Formats: sequence, structure tokens, C-alpha cells
Amino acid sequence: MGKSKNYGMNTKALHANKKFEPLTGDIMPPLHLSTTYKNDIPGESEYFYGRVNNPTRELFERTLASLEGIENYEEIHALAMASGMSAVSLIAELVKPGENVVITKDVYGGTTNYFSKIVTERGVEVNFCDFSDTEKLKSLLNDKTKLAWIESPSNPSINLYDLSKTAEIVHENGTFLVADSTFSTPFITRPLEHGVDIIMHSTTKYIGGHSDTLGGAVVTKNPELHETLMFYQRQGGAIMSPFDSYLVQRGLYTLGPRIKLHSENAHKLAEHLESSELIKEVRYPGLEKFKNHEIALKQMDYFGGMLSFYLNENVDQEKFWKSLDLYKLAVSLGGVETLIELPYLMTHDNAQETAASAPVDLIRVSVGLENIEDLIDDMDSALNAAKK
Ligand SMILES: Cc1ncc(COP(=O)(O)O)c(C=O)c1O
Repeated sequence: MGKSKNYGMNTKALHANKKFEPLTGDIMPPLHLSTTYKNDIPGESEYFYGRVNNPTRELFERTLASLEGIENYEEIHALAMASGMSAVSLIAELVKPGENVVITKDVYGGTTNYFSKIVTERGVEVNFCDFSDTEKLKSLLNDKTKLAWIESPSNPSINLYDLSKTAEIVHENGTFLVADSTFSTPFITRPLEHGVDIIMHSTTKYIGGHSDTLGGAVVTKNPELHETLMFYQRQGGAIMSPFDSYLVQRGLYTLGPRIKLHSENAHKLAEHLESSELIKEVRYPGLEKFKNHEIALKQMDYFGGMLSFYLNENVDQEKFWKSLDLYKLAVSLGGVETLIELPYLMTHDNAQETAASAPVDLIRVSVGLENIEDLIDDMDSALNAAKK
């Protein structure tokens, strides 16, 4: 990346890679679709076969690693996957029969399902606990605990966990700490700086940023873990396609400014909701009264675009969401448009009746880039329309 490695995040997103200088002098890197490459010596070409490596995927893998703070990102790069869930399953391959994992209680419903219904079938024990209860966490760690899995902020309750403290606890046990950083992205938190061993992203969300690409990524700076996970990535084959790689690389160029505006909008909306007599509780890391605000100040550069809240008893939930205009009722998050969802019935429906269940009446918002005055007006009129 030019002469200096001390560039700021926005510069890194744009200039992490100078390797591809197309013959035409394109300023933006082209999309490489070829699935195979010419060998000058049999088996010795730099690019060999599309599942193994592809220049478009590689550009994204290097840029993301650079943003996560990996200096030698040309060798130790991210691993781009076909979806966030294939990133989850790639990491889960590290856990062998007879070993166990500990997972924070309130993670994405798909992660809960994957571990409790699929990983357990190969003889792996899976335990869920509230990681802020450090004594409980310690009691679940033993010499067979391969991974501890954290999501901060968590989906959908927006709980924050102290990454450095958790890393210290699990490292004492020889366990790797994994952080699902989908809600944060490296523009908010760079988990490797806090001792996390493996980061995973659903790039479907903020990194892609426009709700038009599915993908996932795994990042580690541990050379052995990188080597093993890259082998699993290439042999398992659930890699990110060239076109999705092109879209998420494009997403990285504007990720910084988008995160800034998502965060500003979400903060203003959270403050507005907090002051409303029709709202029981707002969960947003930037609110001074929020119980995890101190952790947010310690490990987040922005407070993010995600918030959740509970309506007061005097508001009819169904009437409320049906009265919204700009907020679309839909799963997923991190796109330019504002989305609202009911986690218990939608993203976390498979975790109902389990320790990882979402609260029944919680409402989650992915705050988009619309003008905040319009979002606040629309919120107020829906709340008023739904008053009992
Ligand atoms: C926090 C989190 N992790 C992982 C995933 C799974 O990602 P994908 O849907 O791209 O497979 C999601 C999807 O909503 C998510 O919100």
C-alpha cells in the first residue's frame, strides 16, 4: 500500500492493494470471472483454479484483512465465503468430536441453530451462557473447550461484552476466542486489537451495505489458524463468488462514511425513542444510561446503526409496525434502507423455547441512511396511530 502503512481506515479501504494494474489502466479493479488460469510451468502458476484463488476475491480478502489491522495482509488475508453461515461453519470445522464450545446466549438465531442442531451431531458439546457472568463462563471452560463464541453488540438484544476481558479468561484456558463482528465492522471495532483470535462477518450486512449480495468472511492473524482455515475454505469449496467479491469490495470503499451516518442516525433515533412515553426501554450502545455504555466507550469507535426497543403496554405492536411507512418489516440489516423486525418471530424463530431465545416483545431496527427527521416523523406517527 504505497510508502506508508499508517494510512487511516478510509484510505486503507481504497488503496489496500496495488497489485492489479490492468493493461487498460482502469482506475477501478476489474471483475475476474475466469475459473482457470494458464500455467507456464505445469502446476506453478500464481493463480491456478477459481475455487483455490481468484484475483477479485483476493483483493477483497486482502483489503478486509488490512482494515482489521493485519499488516502482512498479502500473506495472512481474510477468507471470503459464500454466506455468513458458511463462515460460521468454516470456523466450526476446527472443533473435533469430543471437544466443546461455549457461545454467548444471545447470538444470531442461525448460529444458535447451526451449533445446537448440526455441530452437536458430530459429538461436540455446545453450551450457551451469558458471557457477562464471568464465573459461569469460567465454569464451562475445560481442557476440551476449543472455541468461545461472542457477538458484541449481540443480535438482537444489543448486549455488549468486554472483548479484552473475555479474551483473557478464555486464553488462560487455552481456548480460542471467536467474535462475530457483523454488527460492528472494522470501522467500529477491530477485535484482533482486543485479543480476539478469529473474526467472522456476514458481509451480507454492512460490508456489502446495499442488501444485494450474500457473503461471509473469516479473519485471523494466527498463521497456523489461517493455514488450517484456508485449507478448509479451499477444500470445502463454499467460497465467495467473483461477482459477490466485486460487490463487497465496492462496499468497503464507502463503509467508513456509511457507518458514520448509520451511527449518527441511530443515535438520534435512540435518543428520541428514549424520551417517548410510549417506549418502555431502548437498547443502544451510545445512550449514556445504557448498561453497557462503558464497554462501548472502551471498544467502539462509533456506536453503530443497530438498536432495539420495547413498546409500552399502551401501544399495540401489530398496529405499530403496520403503520410505519419508511421502516420496512424485513429480516437482515446493514443496508442503506431502514429495516424493522420482530426477532422472536423472524430472525430468531428457531431459537424459541431455548436458552438463546429472543425476548418475545423485542423490536429491532437497522437504521438506514434516510434523513433522520423523516425517520423520526414516521416513527412518531406510527406510535401515535398504535396508541391503545
Ligand atoms: C450477526 C449475524 N451473524 C451471522 C449471520 C448469518 O449471515 P448470512 O445470512 O450472510 O449467512 C447473520 C445474518 O443475519 C447475522 O445477523
